[in-house]
Amino acid sequence: MSAVTARGNVASASHPLDPLSKDELESLISALRRDGVLDHRHLIAMLQVEEPPKSVLARFRSNQNSEDVEKIERAARVTVLDRSTGKVAEIVVTIAGHVVSNKVIEGAKAPVLSVESEMAISAAKRDARVIEALHARGVTDIDSVRMEAWPIGAQIPKHLDDGRRIIWTPMWHQPTPEANFYAHPISGLHAIIDIDSGEVLAVENDQQIAIPQTPGPYRQSQTGADVELKPFEIRQPEGVSFSFDGYKANWERWSFRIGFCQREGLVIHDVWFDDGGQLRKIAHRMSIAELVIPYGDPSQGAYRKNAFDTGEFGLGNYTNSLTLGCDCLGEIVYFDVAVANPDGTVREIKNAICTHEEDFGILWKHVDIDGNVEVRRGRRFVVSSIVTINNYEYGYFWYFYQDGSIEFEAKLTGIVLTLADNPGADHVSATELEPGLWAPYHQHILCARLDLDIDSGADEIVGVRNSVVEVDSFAHEMGPKNIHGGAYEISETILKRELDAKRVVDPFKSRFWKVINPNRKNHMGKPVGYKLISGHTTYPLAKPESTIGRRAGFMYQHLWVTKNENNERYPAGDYPFQHAGGAGLPQWTQANRDIENTDVVLWHVFGTNHIPRAEDWPVMPVERTGFHLKPSGFFARSPAIDVAPSAKPCH
Ligand code: CO
Repeated sequence: MSAVTARGNVASASHPLDPLSKDELESLISALRRDGVLDHRHLIAMLQVEEPPKSVLARFRSNQNSEDVEKIERAARVTVLDRSTGKVAEIVVTIAGHVVSNKVIEGAKAPVLSVESEMAISAAKRDARVIEALHARGVTDIDSVRMEAWPIGAQIPKHLDDGRRIIWTPMWHQPTPEANFYAHPISGLHAIIDIDSGEVLAVENDQQIAIPQTPGPYRQSQTGADVELKPFEIRQPEGVSFSFDGYKANWERWSFRIGFCQREGLVIHDVWFDDGGQLRKIAHRMSIAELVIPYGDPSQGAYRKNAFDTGEFGLGNYTNSLTLGCDCLGEIVYFDVAVANPDGTVREIKNAICTHEEDFGILWKHVDIDGNVEVRRGRRFVVSSIVTINNYEYGYFWYFYQDGSIEFEAKLTGIVLTLADNPGADHVSATELEPGLWAPYHQHILCARLDLDIDSGADEIVGVRNSVVEVDSFAHEMGPKNIHGGAYEISETILKRELDAKRVVDPFKSRFWKVINPNRKNHMGKPVGYKLISGHTTYPLAKPESTIGRRAGFMYQHLWVTKNENNERYPAGDYPFQHAGGAGLPQWTQANRDIENTDVVLWHVFGTNHIPRAEDWPVMPVERTGFHLKPSGFFARSPAIDVAPSAKPCH
């Protein structure tokens, strides 16, 4: 097996964008406690790096090597829930413990915190109504019941809608300790719980259907899985072609920084490409800013399943520890991350971020008429992490290629959510996987926040100037402009204001979007740019006037462009938990700001429509969705030409 380097906490975490280390988290939390800012009433809802503005970072970068280095004090933003008042506050604090600001966010509701879920589930398990309803279904051992704590969305029963924070609990039966409990949903029984007080507010017990009994084993110890192939090893006998300086990655002509956020998980910062000795910037910050899963089944509480895995749970909390040779194959460099628990303790997640190189088939090839063969093998650099949120796994994979392109791919796997209905029932919004076991239709909708800075160079200090262009291909009607009928052209439209920049994909026009720097021209006098190419995607089926439609209004466009604002980070708003809707992108863009020749952020919405297949059971093979950023007139010619052959002359 290949060597592995565990980076652990990088010794001198000194860059302002570096993930918060365990030591830093512990020291700033203890300082807040010491100074009485935090006490027994408080729970930590989120703790993130406080990222300095771009102009400050640019000054930091340009001064880093000089004598009068302008040090930026590392800082964090701590989102705190005061349990005595239910109010949420955001505290900006330096690592040394100096409080910069402390502000109550009126109307904000904290995301679901792990301690609250645990408390709510044990309250439900103690509730006499729940116990009796389980008995009626033949379940007498309460320890064999698995409950999940789900945000209720905005679908709160009228009599409980007085502003409290509420979760509800779908349940499954686990007949043996290692059984796949998702095979045995308990229909129509949910507890609704106030997570601030721990009170079980209501028990819904409205549809008693037999618990499906067909097991869904997937562990090797249960299935005896024995389809084997011969060993496949990846060796890099002369070592890897990448290096790290702290969290800064250098590979091929690329450099960028790895970041991590308790809310978003993996983040990529400060992406540059070395173009023949000239460093050119491409992106400032790239992340998946929201992930929402609207379910399309109106039955049994399934209509409430609309979780915002990023904004309501804090996706980074659920990051896996990865295993060499299993999650990642080859010569791996891992990074550990640390997250603050609600009670202020700190949890380290070992091997949370995986970095390595992958062979990626041929990069390019041509056989000339004289028989000369030029072929290059391609390689890509991969940065990835995987989270487990209840039943599902999400892998976030960022790929850097030798042709100057960047790709993001989400890998969706895990177990489909299940409910019970009568075998063979006329149940129109779900697939029957086994007799009486149904998997509701749903969508996984992701929103990437792409703060691209195309060839911004020294402009960063004074202000980046980019524009976004929509490019459609079209054909004129048969006639003077299209004599043979086969002609087609492109139309390029600059998106000038935010309301003009709410766009959807159009495969009939092979639509793509290009971020250009109108102030930097390539060798042909055209503005340099990168194009955003959407991949396999979907469009929301939920009606815009539905509660999920209002709360996740960002879903209804595949592209939004906003003027860059440091505090506009999350497309459904900062606090989607039980929010009535309208926050985030739909709200910000009402200002209709000018987005031409300025510092812009692209928001790309993409995802999958999941009509569960029999073959998605018991664990779904990986489904992929993502997008590609490709240079478009950024370079004078293909940067892949500069890649040397990897082997002796090829014939
Ligand atoms: Co799915």
